Amino acid sequence: MTSRDGDERSNDWDPDSYDAEVGFVADYGESVVDLLDPRPGERVLDLGCGTGHLTADIAEAVGPEGLAVGVDQSDEMVAEARETYPECHFAAVDAREFDPETLPSAPERFDAVFSNAALHWIPWADQRTVAERVADALAPGGRFVAELGGRGNVATIVDAVVDELESRGYEAANPWYFPTVGEHATVLERAGFEVRMARLFDRPTVLDGPDGLRNWLDVFADSLFASLSADEEDAVVTAVEDRLRQDLYDPDAEAWTAGYRRLRFLAVRD
Ligand code: BEZ
Repeated sequence: MTSRDGDERSNDWDPDSYDAEVGFVADYGESVVDLLDPRPGERVLDLGCGTGHLTADIAEAVGPEGLAVGVDQSDEMVAEARETYPECHFAAVDAREFDPETLPSAPERFDAVFSNAALHWIPWADQRTVAERVADALAPGGRFVAELGGRGNVATIVDAVVDELESRGYEAANPWYFPTVGEHATVLERAGFEVRMARLFDRPTVLDGPDGLRNWLDVFADSLFASLSADEEDAVVTAVEDRLRQDLYDPDAEAWTAGYRRLRFLAVRD
């Protein structure tokens, strides 16, 4: 049996395919920015900023008297964000090691921390550390507003990939953290937050074109395919498409639908 590391979350981020294939991540994130409601003069940290589109939206809202800083673990994503938005501040930082004092352009404390579609890349065991880092980075009364994949997120796709890999002799497991409201609210409360709002909801997400599912897996699922050759990966993806076509593909619309479930929260630092 080929050994696979189900705890490995590493992903090779390609900013071009990220924006081209899954541009909906930033589009949907706009409503999370609405929940954040950034105000002129505020200092906001965007945790897991990707290619920086939402950081730029926040920067516009806080204006010249405010500050928006985007951080992401991926050097490639941060380089792309800097190129697209040279007027904004970005840094390559692991959320688990975040410390405002190490950032050249960061204030001592932020008024708010924002995160869209990033926290589920961090293992469950490290979520408390991240929540504590965020609490430390916030001024008292500061807001933590975020959305991540919630329990059951993209489960049909993940289950099909894991089953297909196992049927071929690989060990595989869901590499992402998709908590319930109760699980994540507990993490936040233990880190010193009051959870003012948290909800889990379905958000079916269209993956355009006959290759929509393949492209989604190509952008996001490196860790599941890490030990496969390109040919083996292609065979697994084709088999997964065959398994899911009937349920997830609409031939008239030429589109796949992924069963996204979002966990969205607004928490305030005690
Ligand atoms: C999400 O945003 O929910 C997600 C993205 C990539 C892989 C898994 C989930």
